[in-house]
Amino acid sequence: MTSIVRTLKELRQIVTDWRKAGHSIALVPTMGALHAGHLDLVRAATAKADKVITTIFVNPAQFAAHEDLGRYPRTEAADLEMLAQVGCNLLYAPSVETIYPDGFSTQVLVNGITARLEGTFRPQFFGGVTTVVAKLFIQTTPDFAFFGEKDWQQLQVVTTMARDLDMGLTIIGVSTRRETDGLAMSSRNAYLSPEERAIAPALKLALETAFNAITVHSESSIEATGKARATLLAAGFKSVDYLEACHAQTLEPWLRGDPLRMLAAAWLGKTRLIDNWGG
Ligand code: PAF
Repeated sequence: MTSIVRTLKELRQIVTDWRKAGHSIALVPTMGALHAGHLDLVRAATAKADKVITTIFVNPAQFAAHEDLGRYPRTEAADLEMLAQVGCNLLYAPSVETIYPDGFSTQVLVNGITARLEGTFRPQFFGGVTTVVAKLFIQTTPDFAFFGEKDWQQLQVVTTMARDLDMGLTIIGVSTRRETDGLAMSSRNAYLSPEERAIAPALKLALETAFNAITVHSESSIEATGKARATLLAAGFKSVDYLEACHAQTLEPWLRGDPLRMLAAAWLGKTRLIDNWGG
């Protein structure tokens, strides 16, 4: 059974009891609308720690005014059932007021790595993520925290934050769960029309093709990414925010010899999809 708490007081009581009993704790931060990819994170967490806390909080601070905060899917009852099935011990679902009480005026910012890719197109995003994730770490005091590789840049940013601030926990990335046609699972896939859904797998295919062109066929990254962008537009994507070959950890432009990660964000109608591919 998965218990649910919404207040910091209840959360702290449970965490204190677990700590007294000598249990280790893993955290899986989410914004809800859970799918099989999230459940992979929870399964990995249950394998690593005695107790697992999943958080569901649709974090206003990481959405710009024109973005999809209002229509972001909220499916708490179904989420709770799924969490119970994979052995999550506790769901922490705080209110906006619990996370951002009146007068809240702190921001946690990671420089450098946040300025590229997602940071260029969503300038508010990483500041919102690192602030809420830092707060969730402080509230839940985990030994381990699990993040999906689907949000590759977010995973590198959170890892940097935890290292720089000596947060005393281990960040663990979990590989992306994909539909059978290759589309990375995402809560935002629910926005896609049937026609868009049929086009969407082209994103992963373009990234994988570019990765192979660079690594197996020694194509230049400029040529491979140019072709991949053109393929996406030809497949029916409206526009491509970025599709780049990057150093897998720093996310600086890739140079031969660096560990390679291909990252992309592209618009399919009104839906923005992101994905990444690496070795
Ligand atoms: O990846 C997400 O769902 C969110 O960015 C996170 C990490 C839960 C922070 O709100």
